Amino acid sequence: MRRSVFLVLAFAAMICLQVSNALAFHDEGVARCSGCHTMHNTNGNNALIDPTGTGYPYLLNYANATDLCLSCHATSRGAVWGTDPMAPPAERGPGNFAFLTEDNINDGRNGHLSPIPGWRAGHTVISPSRGTVVDALNPVSPGGAYPASSLSCTSCHDPHGNANFRLLYGAGDHAEAGNFNYTQAAPVVDGISIEASTPESDVLHNAYKSGMSAWCSNCHGNFHNNDVQYRHPSGVGMSSAIINIYDLYAGTMNQIGGTHATAYIADVPFEDPEMTMDWTAGPDNNSKVSCISCHRAHATSAQNSGRWDFNITWFHDDGVESSSYVMPQTYNSPNQRSLCNKCHNKDKNDHNPF
Ligand code: HEC
Ligand code: HEC
Ligand code: HEC
Ligand code: HEC
Ligand code: HEC
Ligand code: HEC
Repeated sequence: MRRSVFLVLAFAAMICLQVSNALAFHDEGVARCSGCHTMHNTNGNNALIDPTGTGYPYLLNYANATDLCLSCHATSRGAVWGTDPMAPPAERGPGNFAFLTEDNINDGRNGHLSPIPGWRAGHTVISPSRGTVVDALNPVSPGGAYPASSLSCTSCHDPHGNANFRLLYGAGDHAEAGNFNYTQAAPVVDGISIEASTPESDVLHNAYKSGMSAWCSNCHGNFHNNDVQYRHPSGVGMSSAIINIYDLYAGTMNQIGGTHATAYIADVPFEDPEMTMDWTAGPDNNSKVSCISCHRAHATSAQNSGRWDFNITWFHDDGVESSSYVMPQTYNSPNQRSLCNKCHNKDKNDHNPF
């Protein structure tokens, strides 16, 4: 493998001499190879990159693919791994890997006595520089077979670029990481700028159009469908009863005062082929509940990468037991109950004790 990488790189180096570098960095496969690979295990000043002298796998500039990606994307160009899990950078959709290093994210009853460590906050990508190691709970993706020991940025994103949303792998693609073949297409999404300094909001957010549940199923199968503990459909349409609840529900404090035109909240997104980044309306007959309605793709300050903390009853409980980050929410009254209610209003007859 090392030899073949070397030959390809040597060949590419010859081509690169003739191609201008004005293209965007990952641009559909022709990124500057030396931005990520080294042919002689040295940087431009002939200093050894890998101190052991043997060179990193795939002739990479960093110890593994994840650390390589983080050299550009940790705190800028998307800022997917902020420096402080109590003050994460602007949210652009996937959550933040910073939460993997939290000591406790358990805000359930007596959570301070039984910590849930940060590596259960989502996808535990393995990063020597950030000190994360292979997920200790799930040896493979629940519902599927992707090995947790190979979880890397390049499990999901193609380092050599492609035309898909966020360079995600799609049907027919082979991921070197985990030696994994994708069978389901990349999701169709219009994404907000990765440079945006303001977080996603209810009026400017990623526009999930279709295919997210199918994409997650590459590694997770049709999750929650056969799960006895927690059954829930994904990738299916919403009944008129649920559409109506989503429209009217404007929080525990205002359960029937909402309107269709302004019902959308980025905290509980749904897919729709007509979705736009400035969409503000509730769902219609073409809208679907999706994995992304309840989870974020990287990690959050709640267990299972939840868009809200599945372990707490009231919003005012978030962050209290664990002293972890309080996830901002549109309905931010202390009395707010679980956002499952956005689609199934069970807040009725609530006592609102606070
Ligand atoms: C954004 C960083 C990045 C850039 C730019 C990049 N590579 Fe890679 N490359 C990687 C990573 C990371 C791997 C390790 C496999 C993985 O994790 O997907 C890799 C693996 C490879 C491999 C072996 C595995 C495979 O996919 O065939 C070859 C060959 C390769 N790169 C060639 C190139 C060439 C040629 C260029 C320039 C046209 C290039 N790379 C540019 C990140 C990059
Ligand atoms: C040398 C810096 C550098 C490295 C290393 C690097 N990237 Fe990037 N990446 C960029 C830049 C610049 C952009 C924005 C321009 C573009 O799209 O090419 C970008 C864009 C992206 C995007 C978003 C595309 C969009 O706008 O929707 C993703 C996702 C991404 N990179 C993933 C990765 C992954 C995964 C790795 C590791 C294999 C990686 N990057 C390594 C510089 C880098
Ligand atoms: C389990 C799959 C998966 C892994 C692992 C993963 N990503 Fe992502 N990433 C996604 C998906 C899906 C999105 C789009 C999420 C959305 O918009 O809701 C995304 C979005 C992004 C974006 C654009 C949004 C933003 O916040 O700027 C960047 C940049 C990015 N990922 C980089 C990375 C890097 C760097 C790593 C490794 C440290 C990584 N990803 C690991 C699936 C993954
Ligand atoms: C209606 C909200 C909702 C939707 C939609 C949803 N999930 Fe979940 N998911 C949850 C909740 C709540 C939990 C935690 C409950 C539990 O552990 O059983 C969870 C837990 C998980 C876990 C962790 C299970 C474990 O054993 O550690 C995985 C993996 C997961 N979901 C994947 C998915 C995938 C993939 C999809 C789309 C096919 C999806 N989820 C759709 C709410 C949802
Ligand atoms: C490339 C394979 C891959 C893809 C694609 C993928 N996952 Fe995962 N996922 C894994 C692996 C491996 C684990 C177990 C290791 C871990 O938890 O970090 C996991 C774990 C999870 C967990 C439990 C995390 C925890 O520790 O609590 C959730 C929730 C989850 N995935 C949801 C999703 C959703 C939602 C998507 C689509 C947006 C998705 N996954 C896409 C591989 C994948
Ligand atoms: C984005 C909207 C949405 C959200 C958020 C949501 N659901 Fe659902 N839920 C649905 C849809 C759609 C169905 C399918 C039934 C229907 O259309 O009436 C469903 C069905 C169910 C069912 C019946 C499942 C079965 O097998 O019969 C349960 C139980 C349920 N949801 C619980 C939850 C819980 C708990 C949460 C929060 C973790 C949640 N839902 C969040 C949309 C949602």
